[in-house]
Amino acid sequence: QTVDGAGQVLLPGFIDLHTHLREPGREDTETIESGSAAAALGGYTAVFAMANTSPVADTAVITDYVWKRGQEVGLVDVHPVGAVTVGLEGKQLAEMGTMAAGVGAVRIFSDDGHCVYDPLIMRRALEYANSLGVLIAQHAEEPRLTKGAVAHEGPTASRLGLAGWPRAAEESIVARDALLARDAGARVHICHASTAGTVELLKWAKAQGISITAEVTPHHLLLDDSRLETYDAVNRVNPPLREASDVAALRQALAEGVVDCVATDHAPHADQDKCCEFAAARPGMLGLETALSIIVETMVKPGLLDWRGVARVMSENPARIVGLDDQGRPLAVGEPANLVLIDPAAEWTVEADDLASIARNTPFQAMTLPAKVTATFLRGRLTARDGKIVAG
Ligand code: DOR
Ligand code: ZN
Ligand code: ZN
Repeated sequence: QTVDGAGQVLLPGFIDLHTHLREPGREDTETIESGSAAAALGGYTAVFAMANTSPVADTAVITDYVWKRGQEVGLVDVHPVGAVTVGLEGKQLAEMGTMAAGVGAVRIFSDDGHCVYDPLIMRRALEYANSLGVLIAQHAEEPRLTKGAVAHEGPTASRLGLAGWPRAAEESIVARDALLARDAGARVHICHASTAGTVELLKWAKAQGISITAEVTPHHLLLDDSRLETYDAVNRVNPPLREASDVAALRQALAEGVVDCVATDHAPHADQDKCCEFAAARPGMLGLETALSIIVETMVKPGLLDWRGVARVMSENPARIVGLDDQGRPLAVGEPANLVLIDPAAEWTVEADDLASIARNTPFQAMTLPAKVTATFLRGRLTARDGKIVAG
């Protein structure tokens, strides 16, 4: 396995804190195997598989299964995310301790795509997670403000007659959870920050010394709600695509470290759930195989991040947030490493049919993007090379 890296960029393998793999329950749209392939091709060596599967990952039986299946596939470490509450219903805390102690060793508990909106349950969840040394990742959506909403509340949605999702639905929960984390002396992580106001709140909370971290998705760094003009359901996502001013604020925040990392929110959906009317389509977009290129387009090309910065937001900061301390530290000579090799000069055109994901709901279809992953190594073993999976 000699790989010639002349003229290329070598970074630590990427870590995605937020991936939906749909197994168990919707294997027609993604499996741990197909999602692992997509991740390896995207330069990832670890992904965190969200808990909103069917059944929900709210017991160690499921979280252990996800980890074991990922190890069997052997392309990336598939870390299970556990549900914060039983059935994601937000009423009763799940047995986080049992999930954390299982072979899946759950490090993140989340409510995605629901929201722990009862402040008392959230406070208890933060205290419990803190006592276990695990992280709560909050989807930050006040559901009483987003009922029926399908698009960012603003001029575009009103003109198109789409029910609006206000910024306050996100920001009110971010503010509340920052304060709950402060009082509980606990850490909290904000999933997919999408508004300029969330950025301001993160700045404020961090300045107070609150242990808060946040992620941003590639799609929220590139796309805004002007995309909705076509009514193409591929653009429906939670939280929704916002306005150009939000996109600019998110880019700046990621450059400055106010937002800590990139997470894909890779959300595969079947064609039939995406080909219908905008308001009837399921929310979510593919992200694993395009993430690096979108970060180069939105952050590296405009001079907001250099390659060192890409390593920080796609690998080192996610590792730090979740306590995977084997990533991003200096390696001993001969020690097997998680690595991604990138051709910075390459260009490629996204073709949904060519992606390793089973689903095809990429919003980047037919776009020509910069930079390509040419090799991914998991603990020294080649997992992907020039766009193809290398069988273990
Ligand atoms: O767009 C989204 N899709 N946002 C979420 O929070 C959940 C996700 C999904 O599971 O499809
Ligand atoms: Zn979410
Ligand atoms: Zn999600």
